[in-house]
Amino acid sequence: MKMKMSRLSAIRVPIDTTPAEERAALAANVRRLMRADRYVYFKAIEQSNGVEVVVDGQTLVMASSNDYLGLTHDRRVIAAATKAMRRWGSGPGGSRFLCGNITLHHELEANLADFVGKAGAIVHPTGFLTNAGVIACLARPGDVLLCDRECHASILAGCRLAGVRMVSYKGEKEHAAQDALERLRAKPDTGRVFLITEGLFSMSGRVTDLAALARLRAIDPELFLYVDDAHGLGVMGHGRTTAHQFKVVKQVDMIMGTFSKALASIGGFVATDDRNLLTFIQHDSRTHIFSAGLPAANAAAALKSLEIIRAEPQRVERLWKNARTAQARLRKLGLPVKESNSPINSILIGEEMAAFDFSRDLFRQGVFALPAIYPAVPKGQAILRVVFTSKHTRKHVNKVLEAIAETARRFHLIEK
Ligand SMILES: Cc1ncc(COP(=O)(O)O)c(C=O)c1O
Repeated sequence: MKMKMSRLSAIRVPIDTTPAEERAALAANVRRLMRADRYVYFKAIEQSNGVEVVVDGQTLVMASSNDYLGLTHDRRVIAAATKAMRRWGSGPGGSRFLCGNITLHHELEANLADFVGKAGAIVHPTGFLTNAGVIACLARPGDVLLCDRECHASILAGCRLAGVRMVSYKGEKEHAAQDALERLRAKPDTGRVFLITEGLFSMSGRVTDLAALARLRAIDPELFLYVDDAHGLGVMGHGRTTAHQFKVVKQVDMIMGTFSKALASIGGFVATDDRNLLTFIQHDSRTHIFSAGLPAANAAAALKSLEIIRAEPQRVERLWKNARTAQARLRKLGLPVKESNSPINSILIGEEMAAFDFSRDLFRQGVFALPAIYPAVPKGQAILRVVFTSKHTRKHVNKVLEAIAETARRFHLIEK
């Protein structure tokens, strides 16, 4: 434990070095957009039932949420969260390491591990903190973090905290990961390679061929495969994970997931078969040790969601039915929709201003759909991200798609 404590004291937090002029420029930009009524972010939702929300007194169909299985307003989930809050209180009162650890955390970890097909799991307060803390625990000096270039900001945060070399590859291109790995292995000073990817990419909706990545062990038997399945959990592989979809659960070394999407809560976890690694992460992940534990209500909501997902496969079926309808109709309209076999529909708009205006036009028609801009996507490749959950009815789907068609015509993205 002594050794661990000395490691814990060496917190490597990146210092914000953004120059004051840059901050002022960003603030001026935000004010300019607001004055011109082109600012679309931080909308304050007055009320919600998951698929319909009220903003500034206007009821809108929500088409941006990651509540994939429509469980955030499920009465059983809310009842479980309320009951847990009564028993353990509204907040944890400290880090799990010290006084914020409750029996529910352990029950949840055992359930998560079983759900994703691994021996054990560790819960962190959010998905972002999971990636940031855990990735920093994995690599040692000389190791390389090999990441798909589309990876989420929390993965990049983990890579930065790890302080080791990071190499990115264009995962959308066939053989890109293999080529990058071969180049790394050709260098004698390369340590262990950690290949990090998302199972289902949050912005493009691209699904990673995890079987192809697992086969890269033919080149590097020690390759460590880390899959952030924030969006795939409960969605892919018939409501399990992307690793289940490709039948490579055993070959993936670590599956990461969050509760902020299909599990209708907030929190994150990693799961693996390596119990020593779990114990190491438990004592070494800074975002686990130095952050308060997940509140009981959130743990209970995630646990209840897992139970419902197992018992009600029809939710996943409805999600995919909506996904197939949306993809087919958006394509039929002739919109530039990124190739995706998932519930995430990514319409390429291009310029950021055009994306803001597109989104604002949809708001006026009663649709809440937001653009993703740099750095979430490459510069000049702003997208409109449209998601239908399993709770959206045909009427909701029609309303959103008709509004998109109307706006696309007005913006000359399509003709008819
Ligand atoms: C791919 C991916 N990883 C991690 C996270 C972080 O998850 P959380 O919202 O639980 O912090 C997100 C959230 O958007 C994500 O999309």
